[in-house]
Amino acid sequence: MKTAILISGRGSNMVSLLEAMADPDYPARPVLVVSNRADAGGLARTGAVPTAVVPSRGRMREDFEAALDARLRESGVEFIALAGFMRVLTADFVRRWEGRMVNIHPSLLPSFKGLDTHARALAAGVKIHGCTAHWVSAGVDEGRIIGQAAVPVLDGDNEARLAARVLAAEHVLYPRALAIALGAARPAPDAGARILAL
Ligand code: GAR
Repeated sequence: MKTAILISGRGSNMVSLLEAMADPDYPARPVLVVSNRADAGGLARTGAVPTAVVPSRGRMREDFEAALDARLRESGVEFIALAGFMRVLTADFVRRWEGRMVNIHPSLLPSFKGLDTHARALAAGVKIHGCTAHWVSAGVDEGRIIGQAAVPVLDGDNEARLAARVLAAEHVLYPRALAIALGAARPAPDAGARILAL
């Protein structure tokens, strides 16, 4: 499946997806990485995979999405993985890619939709936090869940420490969840101490 990865920042989830896609048995081929920001660090980490910048700032949402859609189609993209893509997509765009677009979110949905998930998890005093891979639907962070990884909140955790452990879990979860989304899941090897439910 010809896949595009959409990013806005450092692109660590993008790198974990690209590493998985380097395996010829993996069911997705990366054909394009798109950022809505020219300064996204991840753009320098795509190796041989072509990149495109489709700027979103100061632009009407519809114009941005029309340009994004055109760029994706130009590369023959069949499937989209959002990986730290921080721009909310309209219901129109989502409908166009329905069933062909997934996302990674840094919380155990349906808890902590939106931003600042780690700070909010700490403030709420939850003992189990984590990340969720899900299909993208018109409601933000509301699409059907593909898989989740649980990460315990430890005594003395702060936002940075918790975020780092959740991010490490994202890097394990997302490539597996994407493979499942593409209908070609392979048995998970050792998940270590992490609880991983796909
Ligand atoms: C990740 O934690 C991802 O789950 C989150 O942004 C980070 C991007 O990191 N995404 C969202 O919050 C989406 N609403 P990365 O650029 O290193 O992959």
